[in-house]
Amino acid sequence: MTQHLLDMDDLSNEKITALFQVAKSYETKGIPVSQKSNFIAPLFYENSTRTSASFEIAAKSLGFKVLNFSIENSSSAKGESIEDTIQTFIAMGISTIVMRHSSDSLIFSLKETFINQCSFINAGSGARAHPTQTLLDLYTLQGLRIPFSNLKVAVVGDLKHSRVVRSLIKGFKCLGLSDYRLVSPPEFTIPDVDSEKVSHSLADGLEGVDVVIALRVQKERFLEEERLDLESYQEHFCLTESLIKAHCPDAKIMHPGPMNRGVEISSELADGPRSLIFKQVRNGVLVRAALLEEMAV
Ligand code: NCD
Repeated sequence: MTQHLLDMDDLSNEKITALFQVAKSYETKGIPVSQKSNFIAPLFYENSTRTSASFEIAAKSLGFKVLNFSIENSSSAKGESIEDTIQTFIAMGISTIVMRHSSDSLIFSLKETFINQCSFINAGSGARAHPTQTLLDLYTLQGLRIPFSNLKVAVVGDLKHSRVVRSLIKGFKCLGLSDYRLVSPPEFTIPDVDSEKVSHSLADGLEGVDVVIALRVQKERFLEEERLDLESYQEHFCLTESLIKAHCPDAKIMHPGPMNRGVEISSELADGPRSLIFKQVRNGVLVRAALLEEMAV
């Protein structure tokens, strides 16, 4: 296992399989106290509920120490650079930094700066990467017991601003899941993807899939000139039970959260029997615990 997890390129099929075996054992027997040690600093420069809480729960379940740190109350408000903050943590014995930041590239350059001094885990960088979300999504998909080579998945929503989908596409490739569709309005597509995978019609994109992964409209990442006609978006892209029944009646529903109910997904669907959304949340703790245990010294 690499010392850092910045994107799915840092992992291989074998490494993911091994991580999932550990996560599975935690699922059946609970997360045991680790024989290793780790001191973790969560460095969240963007808001987070699920990712930050699940890293903390995972780490504490393993018996690791977690720094109680929030950016708002830190010296970054006094103008301290992020490099100095990290250098300070390293001097105090922090071994792992779990970081979320609006910059696509910052964590990648920080890793180079501090390469042998601490491990970095990317908890979301700009619109570029969110590898631990991908791990928990793949683990949740694996739980459906359909081989990845047969699984049909539609990823629906604001793809353009989504780090989730960018890492997920890498994860699909790594595990041999090739039958996926990227469904969005034309203005929300991502560049440089296989055009055969792209659909701008929700009905076409959903046809016959096993799983639908809904994504939030990420307004906070819109450029100034970007506008959204919310009513038109809801009319054409909000996932509802009746749409699923019509096009993929056996499909399961996933969403990384946070959800905007009534915008990209109806409450009936989010809370209904086909929803795996809170299973994803539980799986997030297991998978992040497996990752932290693997990276600890
Ligand atoms: C995602 C994120 O932060 O990129 N959420 C998450 O980590 N659970 C998706 C989102 O914010 O829409």
